[in-house]
Amino acid sequence: MIVLGLSGAVNHDASAALYIDGKLVAAAEEERFLRDKHAKGKMPYEATKFCLEQAGIRPDQIDIVAFPYAEIGLKSPARWHYAKRHWYAPDRALTALFSGNRRYWRNHRNVMKLLDDLGIGAKRVKFVPVEHHLAHASSAYHLSGFKEKTAIIGIDGKGEYATTFFGYGENGKIHKIKEFYDPDSLGGVYGALTEYLGFEMLDGEFKVMGMAPYGDPKRFDFSRLIEYKDGEFKVNTKLVNVVGTRRFKKNGKGYFFSPELIEWLGPMREGDEKDEPYIDYAASIQDLLEKTALKLIDFYLGDIIKETGKIAYAGGVALNVKLNQRIIAMPGVKELFVQPAASDAGTAIGAASYASQLAGVPVEKMEHVYLGPAYTTEQCIEACEQYEQPVKWRRMANVTAETAKILADGNPVSWFQGHMEFGPRALGNRSILGSPSHPGVADRINAQIKYRERWRPFCPSMLDTIAPEILQTDHPSPYMTFTFDVAESWKSRIPEVVHEDGTARAQIVTKATNPRYYSLLQEMEKLTGNGVVLNTSLNRRGEPMVCSPTDALNMFFGSDLEYLVMEDILITKDDHQPI
Ligand SMILES: [Fe+2]
Repeated sequence: MIVLGLSGAVNHDASAALYIDGKLVAAAEEERFLRDKHAKGKMPYEATKFCLEQAGIRPDQIDIVAFPYAEIGLKSPARWHYAKRHWYAPDRALTALFSGNRRYWRNHRNVMKLLDDLGIGAKRVKFVPVEHHLAHASSAYHLSGFKEKTAIIGIDGKGEYATTFFGYGENGKIHKIKEFYDPDSLGGVYGALTEYLGFEMLDGEFKVMGMAPYGDPKRFDFSRLIEYKDGEFKVNTKLVNVVGTRRFKKNGKGYFFSPELIEWLGPMREGDEKDEPYIDYAASIQDLLEKTALKLIDFYLGDIIKETGKIAYAGGVALNVKLNQRIIAMPGVKELFVQPAASDAGTAIGAASYASQLAGVPVEKMEHVYLGPAYTTEQCIEACEQYEQPVKWRRMANVTAETAKILADGNPVSWFQGHMEFGPRALGNRSILGSPSHPGVADRINAQIKYRERWRPFCPSMLDTIAPEILQTDHPSPYMTFTFDVAESWKSRIPEVVHEDGTARAQIVTKATNPRYYSLLQEMEKLTGNGVVLNTSLNRRGEPMVCSPTDALNMFFGSDLEYLVMEDILITKDDHQPI
């Protein structure tokens, strides 16, 4: 049975994923093909075409198309809650009550058009709409591989109306315990503060989290933003998660916070520096998110956690690795699985896996994220030969040993191999690498390409053989979805990947899931004594991750990077470099 999952329901992060008989055979985000980060307002045309090509199937062979957005009935408390809480913007409140599925039908039209345009056949195929938070839940629970009763968490900005989901999975079925609805959204509050701190919502949340350890959460009391009592929480919509006339406006743009917030905290942050009081605000919002989420998780899922210790988690907020570290530290937690594509791109996998289970075909455990396009060495050479300027390349006799040598000499290397990653993290196939033991390598990467805020941390990939010693835990971490406290003895060995607060957002690499990357880490261990590399995504600031060899060449020649490894070839710029 062939199931295609599509996302793009809430105007960003369109993607496609394909299941054949319960096996996830391909998945990709539209932004990578369009070269437009988050592909706002786009449907996943190119991603769908890629999935079909990768699987080697025709469009008319697809049995089911699943979409992570469903109709919400008037009997559901969702629309009533939304209307009641938006009394100050009567047009919104009335729309929720009288035309509450307007967006669903707009989505439906767009999907049907895509199915016809691509020859899948809107009338022929079975269409399965899946509630947005059930799709997130499925992407976590059904892909976790957990057999025991599993606590399920979903926290994001908003789907149809729901913002927060607590439930459990048992015997392959998902059960809802509790949902919260817009405007009561933890992701929304964090996003509003992200905007206030001068970053883009749905993109800059990582930066707020990265800034938080520099500040003091005790200097400002943010509890007025969210009221929590006995398992219920309410967002203060006088300050954040505001719509219509309550929005703060500047240069023609409306924000998700109000002028009252500016009166309280002062002007919005501008520029690239980390400075007071903004670092303290970042610390305070991170602290508020952690405290509220932990209380809710304990309230609704505490019993299940005590029983089995297993948790599956998705939704944009699940990418908050600091909160995840605190969840793992909760009493009774044995293992937390965070869907690596936790934000909306992952709902394509979620909807497809949900529909597959519903049709009686259980889906396999997710083993890796290498689900995108791959290119042979010959295709990489062809891209070099056809490039708009002469490209100096040569075949490497021993790719991993030679690359490790360049890294160990203190050089950043662009590293392109295998299938592109699905989700926001580069996990060793579209990465920029450096030796974390080499002081100043992070600055060199920033100078050569990333040009990102200097205070943001870089992260490590490490051999599974040494990870427990570095991270002081046996908890799995294949996808960089958690931070861990780095052992004292390792802090000075890999200083370039340890954050201000002594943590690292680590990827533990196994030979089975990525043999070439594993071999590179082993070579690094031979040369430096540390089987660790600094790993950041292969892209320039503001651009999506590189997809094809030509994208890699564009990025390489548009930066000051000196080394690009693509499959078996090494590309350099300067005659002085070893080639
Ligand atoms: Fe979502």
